Amino acid sequence: MGQLSVKDLITIHDLTREDITKIFEKTTELKRLQKNNQPHTLLQGRTICTFYEKPSLRTRVSFEVAMVQLGGHAIYMKAIPGWKHADAHLKESDEDLARVLSRYVDAIVARTFSHDKIERLARFASIPVINALSDLTHPCQTLTDLYTMWEHKQKLQGLKVAYIGDGGNNMAHSTMLGCAKVGAHLTIAAPNNPRYHPNPKIMEWASEDAKENGGTINVTNDPKEAVKNADVIYTDVWISMGMEEEKEQRLRDFQGFQVNEELMQYAPEDAIVMHCLPRTPHEITDTVATGPQSVIYDQAENRLHVQKAILVLLMS
Ligand code: CP
Ligand code: NVA
Repeated sequence: MGQLSVKDLITIHDLTREDITKIFEKTTELKRLQKNNQPHTLLQGRTICTFYEKPSLRTRVSFEVAMVQLGGHAIYMKAIPGWKHADAHLKESDEDLARVLSRYVDAIVARTFSHDKIERLARFASIPVINALSDLTHPCQTLTDLYTMWEHKQKLQGLKVAYIGDGGNNMAHSTMLGCAKVGAHLTIAAPNNPRYHPNPKIMEWASEDAKENGGTINVTNDPKEAVKNADVIYTDVWISMGMEEEKEQRLRDFQGFQVNEELMQYAPEDAIVMHCLPRTPHEITDTVATGPQSVIYDQAENRLHVQKAILVLLMS
């Protein structure tokens, strides 16, 4: 067991507030060391195995660079498109994959379609398993987002966050769980269709956590209302990985939910704009994404620092 209350990072709902504080304190320490070019090889001789059923730029590169900077090593495995058995991790059971990797490496980082697969790996591995995005949640991204909000707004408790777009995808879900855990007020603006609204289980967890921590979670179909008093405006793609066949329908359904110059007129001037990336021009205009209110590239950078903290705390 590492220094957190959990063996694995599967969802933010599983973490305590103290875990989140520890992750952020360690992030600040490691970020400072890296910025000052000071060594921080806290995981010397340690190895992680990372594998991906979907593409990745940020997650893959930041985890691999994190391990190099921490003095360890990352092995990369990916599914090979069109080949039924793909890479080693798809040709045997999740149970055996977890048992065998536990004999070689010190942690598993997995990006999967099915969230159950990550839960199964965690159950059968004796080493930490880190969710690097599933169809249900993306905790590494949201912990980074919360850290970035804190850097820019100096608080999380009571922060007003507006999430515009697909309220039923992995980013909406983990933003809900993250905001609930730190006592922020989240309003999701999504089309009036249950398909684009949060998964009921996630809603239940987030509502419990929000109540305990003094936050709130609301869903509306009015983006202008959502951004009106927002400190943070968050968006994500309308067509997540694996939803490509729904593209035309989704482009129609999400009309009016773009984060653009017009919507920004309704938001406070000091609201910051966030996006986990990759982005498309459908959900956010280039002007807003690269404009003065955007902190999108700080978010991308912070993936490295926050994940280093997660690795160190889970592995030592
Ligand atoms: N935000 C994020 O997880 O990006 P990648 O899909 O490139 O890893
Ligand atoms: N919702 C997006 C997030 C990408 C980081 C997807 O799953 O494709």
